[in-house]
Amino acid sequence: MKIGIVGSGSIGANAARLFVRAGHEVALSNSRGGQGLEALVEELGDRSHATTIEDTAKFGEVVLIAIPFDKYRTLPQDAFKGKVVIDAGNYYPERDGKFPELDGDETTSSEMMASHLKEARWSKALTQSISNISPVRATRVCRWRSGARFSSPVTTRRRKRLLRG
Ligand SMILES: NC(=O)c1ccc[n+]([C@@H]2O[C@H](COP(=O)([O-])OP(=O)(O)OC[C@H]3O[C@@H](n4cnc5c(N)ncnc54)[C@H](OP(=O)(O)O)[C@@H]3O)[C@@H](O)[C@H]2O)c1
Repeated sequence: MKIGIVGSGSIGANAARLFVRAGHEVALSNSRGGQGLEALVEELGDRSHATTIEDTAKFGEVVLIAIPFDKYRTLPQDAFKGKVVIDAGNYYPERDGKFPELDGDETTSSEMMASHLKEARWSKALTQSISNISPVRATRVCRWRSGARFSSPVTTRRRKRLLRG
């Protein structure tokens, strides 16, 4: 599958590693037209390239958005028309600035993003992922910390297979 990744920091880059290991192709972008992602592309190999946000969205059958929430209004609306979007973002007032409609529980960050990219098909995932550790370890850590199950789009056996490469 072709997967576009808008925002190639902690979450975007780690997701890209897992997608590529699973055999998918990825296009990566950031706020600088893909500049600065050369080392990541070199690490990921032939199934990856860095480009603009518009081309990332065009490339992806699915597009992962992993940018700081407060930047969502900079995303080009036309590029996401008809796209399946996975929103990995969280709202952190200390990082994003205060959004009274969120602080007052009038809406959610995903609803705000979806109303900006109104012609995309929206889903929310990976928001509780821990970017700098493996999904297998993340599962254990989250269970240990919270006693709750950690949601993941793949089974433990599949995750182990992906991580073996
Ligand atoms: N880190 C985690 O463990 C974690 C877990 C779950 C969810 N999240 C959420 O996922 C989102 C990304 O977090 P992160 O930790 O991956 O952040 P990060 O490491 O700071 O990376 C942010 C990425 O977004 C890009 N970006 C910033 N502004 C942009 C814009 N206007 N257009 C396109 N790309 C832009 C940055 O590119 P530049 O380098 O060009 O600025 C960078 O590639 C946040 O909402 C965060 O709350 C994070």
